[in-house]
Amino acid sequence: MLEIINRYILPPVNSTFASDVDALFTFINVVSAILLLGITVAIIYFAIKYKRKSEDDVTPVIKHNTALEVTWTVIPLILILIVFFWGFRGYVEMRTPPSNSYEVYVTANSFFWQFTHPNGVQTTNELHVPNGRPVKLIMQSRDVIHSFFVPDFRVKQDVLPGRYTTAWFQTKNAGESIVFCTEYCGSGHSAMLATVISMEPADFDAWLADAKAESERELPLAELGRTLYQSQGCFGCHSLTGASGIGPTFQGLYGATRNFTDGTSAVADEEYLRESIYQPAAKIVQGYNNVMLSYQGILDEQQVTALIEFIKELN
Ligand code: CUA
Repeated sequence: MLEIINRYILPPVNSTFASDVDALFTFINVVSAILLLGITVAIIYFAIKYKRKSEDDVTPVIKHNTALEVTWTVIPLILILIVFFWGFRGYVEMRTPPSNSYEVYVTANSFFWQFTHPNGVQTTNELHVPNGRPVKLIMQSRDVIHSFFVPDFRVKQDVLPGRYTTAWFQTKNAGESIVFCTEYCGSGHSAMLATVISMEPADFDAWLADAKAESERELPLAELGRTLYQSQGCFGCHSLTGASGIGPTFQGLYGATRNFTDGTSAVADEEYLRESIYQPAAKIVQGYNNVMLSYQGILDEQQVTALIEFIKELN
């Protein structure tokens, strides 16, 4: 019966410890419901039973009742100890990645997720993992505090700038699960989503080898720019369709006259685009906020050139 209710109120289960989390959650809910009901009924019953009935109905003086006091101390103590040890056991398990874990580095950015595999393959907003094998995430943030949350796995861990935090999980079935950012991090917070794609180990190995080969291919500049547009998360703020986002669209940008918040204007040439990538705060286009971070030290000159070539091709 509870299982059926849980199926409707909780997300699907797809990690080895998700069922344990649900069991404790259900235990706490059921105990709380029983206590709520018992206390409410007792209050109503006593209120009626001991209602003052006449003027000379005097309340007797009761000092204490040892049996009753021991009972109402010991029962909650036992309940709390059960919840504590049950929760602590689960917490230790969730905080201790098995030593044979597959490791993936996670970088949170405003407002996208980057995943780096041991062989150097990097993906954006898509985390591919082998099903049935423990996966350890070593996470950090490039800017503000984000939080990595996969409801299907019952995994949630804050991701901080300047230090690593870790989380781990092992999926039970191949399939897709959604990752939410669950720490309010700015205007793009609600769109900061990713997908965990759990694949059968053979499929995963094939995917990883393909992705590796793809990453080593020599690309023409504009095509390299297109992959950087994806992998560096430019798409989070700059559309290719002409639609305004957190930042201006890239479509038709090259060669257009830009009007800035300080009243000046300039034509978007190579020099302007390069400056906008390395020093985004230098010129802010009217109608937008100064929210972009510098890509100095993240994109090298060749990558910036590739992005500029990519933007040029969108005209
Ligand atoms: Cu990142 Cu909210």
